[in-house]
Amino acid sequence: MSGRPPAPQLILGFADYLAPAQRLAQRLRIGCATVAIHRFPDGESRVAVPVPLPEHIALCRSLDRPNDKLVETILAAAAARQHGARAVTLVAPYLPYMRQDSEFTPGEAVSQRIVGALLAERFDAVVTVDPHLHRVATLAEAVPAPCAVALSAAALFGAWVESHEPDAVLVGPDEESAQWLAAAAAGHRFETAVCRKVRAGDREVTVDIPAVRLAGRAVVLVDDIASTGTTLAVAARRCLALGAASVDALVVHGLFVGSAAADLRAAGVRNVWSTDSVLHPTNVLPLDALLAGAMEAPPAV
Ligand code: R5P
Repeated sequence: MSGRPPAPQLILGFADYLAPAQRLAQRLRIGCATVAIHRFPDGESRVAVPVPLPEHIALCRSLDRPNDKLVETILAAAAARQHGARAVTLVAPYLPYMRQDSEFTPGEAVSQRIVGALLAERFDAVVTVDPHLHRVATLAEAVPAPCAVALSAAALFGAWVESHEPDAVLVGPDEESAQWLAAAAAGHRFETAVCRKVRAGDREVTVDIPAVRLAGRAVVLVDDIASTGTTLAVAARRCLALGAASVDALVVHGLFVGSAAADLRAAGVRNVWSTDSVLHPTNVLPLDALLAGAMEAPPAV
């Protein structure tokens, strides 16, 4: 975390992520108003903020399916400043473009750095949850805003699994998931296992399960993002082939593109659980308390 966001006096939500924005505002005991968006037939957007505005506002919107949303959110931030806001925070529980953190093949844009710089120019603070930071250590390196806060939902995972599958083995489908496994298992007695994943394409992955006894046991797969669902589906099939009694999946960001949800069911995943960082029928863990804890004014001394 770098710094603390200025405590907002108003949350501005968007129609595609309104309920979580309202929950956050309730937690912070402030109002929530809506940014009006009209999509023109040619694909451009007309963006209007409610006026007048207080000095400190926070825009709350998840930035999954990001291309239109990024432009609209930046337009809303600029309009808010034009109408009196002096400090503008972005609360984006899902922050996009964080996985492209390197030029993997010559000529590729390093999207993490470019999108991060764009947001840092426009927002005084950026608050997000479990950004996919692999080759950089802190959110501030990817998003060099005056204040960049990366929260983690993994601590919520432990209690959820404890109340649903207390004897589960937590399995992370790739090396990067080790951090979420460790946080989810902290303070609990879950056994954990981290797999090795090799990705050959968007929907082509292989997953090697480490030496751990899965026969007859409940497995909960834990990962940060489910996009096509391929990673979880392949891992689930491997666990079931090794005799797991059940496989559930728990993710922070359920993007679930295309047929992901059906593919996971077809792979034998019994329950899919996610946070509300991206709105989806699998949401079971709301993030408002976590987000509010990072944003409320510190107690007066
Ligand atoms: C990548 O390293 C992430 O942690 C996820 O494992 C990945 O984004 C999942 O993608 P998909 O669902 O398309 O396999």
